[in-house]
Amino acid sequence: MTAPTLEIHLSDDDLTSALRADAGLGLTADPKWLPPKWFYDARGSELFEQITELPEYYPTRTERALLQRVVGDIARTARADVLVELGAGSAAKTRLLLTALTAEGPLKTYVPQDFSSSALRAAADQVAVEFPGLGVHGVVSDFTDTLHNLPGGDRRMIAFLGGTIGNLIPAERAEFLNSIHEVLEPGEQLLIGAGLVIDPAVLVPAYDDAAGVTAEFNRNVLLVLNNRLSADFVPEKFEHVAIWDAEREWIEMRLEATADMTVTVADLDLTVRFARGEQIRTEISAKFRIEGLKSELATAGFATENVWTDPEQRFAAVLAART
Ligand code: AVJ
Repeated sequence: MTAPTLEIHLSDDDLTSALRADAGLGLTADPKWLPPKWFYDARGSELFEQITELPEYYPTRTERALLQRVVGDIARTARADVLVELGAGSAAKTRLLLTALTAEGPLKTYVPQDFSSSALRAAADQVAVEFPGLGVHGVVSDFTDTLHNLPGGDRRMIAFLGGTIGNLIPAERAEFLNSIHEVLEPGEQLLIGAGLVIDPAVLVPAYDDAAGVTAEFNRNVLLVLNNRLSADFVPEKFEHVAIWDAEREWIEMRLEATADMTVTVADLDLTVRFARGEQIRTEISAKFRIEGLKSELATAGFATENVWTDPEQRFAAVLAART
């Protein structure tokens, strides 16, 4: 086995300055908001892993079962020699894909990218042990940054699984697809795992579980602000809210202040006032319709080659080629 390499394009200082910028904008906006990527420090990544095991949280296990069923098909049409996985996290579902791509095709290199170095390091090490013939090059970065530092290859495939594409707001999503189009060569492929629009009675509990793990995960972003920017949020004073926006077809997570309060973000010299009942938007998780996905892909210059869904139509895997 060759030891995995880990490229770090985001230093701790980069992270802090990015968070300063985001918090400075989001906490002074009306309504207040914070980008979801800040959930994922070491504790947040662990909480997310716990979420994936919850009975209510169907996306992870649905996607895993779907991939299990169709990776052979994907691998036969994939032809990839390099697999780049954006937002790889713990890379649990990637094993399926790697197994199929190495068995059926010419895969030589796996490039897992993530924003969280703690999750990525462990994942890269484990994959390197399990797939001794494969070169593993982890990249800790922001998506777009990775795209501009992609290793060359004859045929690359970029995988963006887990429904994470739904965490981008529509404008970010379009920009994201455009930048992938920019870095790929014609014929190279994009594999997206996306949650589909389903009954809100199933959807909402997935983001508001009975055990309160998602609530903890949501409040964790306040601890990240406390730790990184010397803020003095009291997380217990915020209540977790998850609502389905039927018009925009996304779940919105928010944190609601349970009392009037004043919070200081020392590193920003910022005082933030909350009225009781005021909310911070912390995440959107958009759900898709197949036709909508295909048309967004087409707009960005991708031809959809194949779409697979689970029997309950809760999740889709979409393989598209750059045109
Ligand atoms: C990061 C896309 C897998 O939006 O479902 C889980 C994150 N947020 N529970 C999602 C999340 C709340 C998640 N993904």
